[in-house]
Amino acid sequence: MNTDQLKDFKKSPESYWLSSTQPLKYPTLDEDIEVDVLIIGGGLAGITCAYQLLDQGLILAILEGNTVLGGVTAHTTAKITSQHGLIYDKVKTTMGGDLAQQYADANQWAIREIKRISDEHEIECDYVTEPAFIYTQEEKQLQKIEKEVNAARDLGIKASFVDSIPFNIPIKGAVRFDDQARFHPLKFGLGMTKHIAEQGVQIFENSRAIDIEENDCYVVTTSQGKRVTAKKVIIATHYPFYNKHGMYFARIYTERAYALAIKAKEKFPGGMYINADDPARSIRNQETQDGEIILVIGDHHKTGQGMSMIKHYEALVDFANTLFTVQDIPYRWSTQDCMTIDGLPYVGNYTSSTPNLYVATGFQKWGITNSIVSSVILKDLIVHGKSPWQDVYNPSRKTIVASAKNFIVENINVAEQLLDGKLSQLPKNINLEPGDAGVFRIDGKRIGAYRDRQGNLHLVNTTCTHMGCELNWNSAEESWDCPCHGSRFTYEGKVITGPAVKPLRASDDVNTIEKLFTEDY
Ligand SMILES: Cc1cc2nc3c(=O)[nH]c(=O)nc-3n(C[C@H](O)[C@H](O)[C@H](O)COP(=O)(O)OP(=O)(O)OC[C@H]3O[C@@H](n4cnc5c(N)ncnc54)[C@H](O)[C@@H]3O)c2cc1C
Ligand code: FES
Repeated sequence: MNTDQLKDFKKSPESYWLSSTQPLKYPTLDEDIEVDVLIIGGGLAGITCAYQLLDQGLILAILEGNTVLGGVTAHTTAKITSQHGLIYDKVKTTMGGDLAQQYADANQWAIREIKRISDEHEIECDYVTEPAFIYTQEEKQLQKIEKEVNAARDLGIKASFVDSIPFNIPIKGAVRFDDQARFHPLKFGLGMTKHIAEQGVQIFENSRAIDIEENDCYVVTTSQGKRVTAKKVIIATHYPFYNKHGMYFARIYTERAYALAIKAKEKFPGGMYINADDPARSIRNQETQDGEIILVIGDHHKTGQGMSMIKHYEALVDFANTLFTVQDIPYRWSTQDCMTIDGLPYVGNYTSSTPNLYVATGFQKWGITNSIVSSVILKDLIVHGKSPWQDVYNPSRKTIVASAKNFIVENINVAEQLLDGKLSQLPKNINLEPGDAGVFRIDGKRIGAYRDRQGNLHLVNTTCTHMGCELNWNSAEESWDCPCHGSRFTYEGKVITGPAVKPLRASDDVNTIEKLFTEDY
């Protein structure tokens, strides 16, 4: 295939992880129940929390808004590593050696814990031990790379400096971490899910939590109006949807990135790679029934704020072509993760004044080990009241204040998006070909229109049901995306990704609006 053919993305996006596994099916909650611990969100973080809480004599349930493990975990790169960008020198300098040590220990432990779990429960999850590299092609980053090697080594990680990687691109230097790994995230997650269900954890799909009432216990209401009464609640919904405490909407933003799974003429040389430069590029391989694929990931931007989204895939094709002779692109997909003010996750009590409400979020695109770490921190807090790693992950940590400048910048950006969306000039009518979408104004209302491949028009009110920002069309995934906190909706208005919990209002005036498109008023 030539480059133009490779960029002819006719097939809809599809994750390799999803296409190579069978989903498990769980019922929708159709009655009121009472439990000891309710976990909201059935991604890797939620499932592993339930796993760690087994054997404590607790009644456990998971509420999942869509399907278990269908969220970010189904679209990740799935490197299992404590190498989370150039982080250790920064954490040591800004937060101190003790907290850096906690972070290193926790994530190194998580690598081993994934192996232990898969071995103990005989979960075939394609676990392969690999070295992980962060490389730079820029002179100005070299000192940071060298400092990172020293910081990581001091914390007990097997880190070294290398001046080459096995690709045909010039680099200035790289950090190498040994004894890291990669796996198939869904084979692992689904294996765990089966295990916890067999051990009595009640799992409910298509049961979105839309509200939490606080009395002696928590009462969580689902989208079907059913109520779960729980002594303790863990919010593992990726982006926390509960706004009453914690101001999470003001201290998390989401970044979206794109993935290609390519078939190349060359065999992959081994290892896992990411650069320290802009634009970000991450690479690993995966054996499949149809031979090897190579994952090339990157081109991130804030959700809902990218350029024409298809351009991001095209940029990755160009990059992949510099490393390999790309023969085919059987899969491509995109996803997003939660980014925090100081670059570290928020795991622990939702706030210091909510002792029975917990959160695991803000994984910074490193949520594989961080989900496992979250599960054991939250288990320890629930069962023992403390965890050796609680300080560095504490959502109310004092060191967040030191990053207040970023905090303000992120909030200005959200406020700008809110205003831009409200004030932007919109056409009164537009022509839409099949596959096209646009936003227009009718009777003072902002209407998002999408014409599907069969020619049918789908109309929604484009005001986000989370906190009222105006949505933008994502042409690569055919969804309405929120530039403020990253909620995403289908073209029919159904929630794909929170924090929003309510669907968009669909406009039922399709016939009148269709006339606006087709007739000259
Ligand atoms: C491009 C990219 C590459 C990445 N690569 C890596 C990597 O190589 N290594 C690594 O360590 N990490 C990586 N990550 C990060 C990692 O994949 C994620 O941090 C992790 O999968 C998040 O798991 P989660 O359980 O928090 O979220 P999810 O898997 O999204 O699970 C959250 C679940 O909660 C559900 N939910 C949401 N709202 C509600 C509600 N109100 N009620 C009920 N359910 C709800 C959702 O439907 C979803 O199923 C990457 C991230 C990105 C974006
Ligand atoms: S996600 Fe918060 S306003 Fe849309």
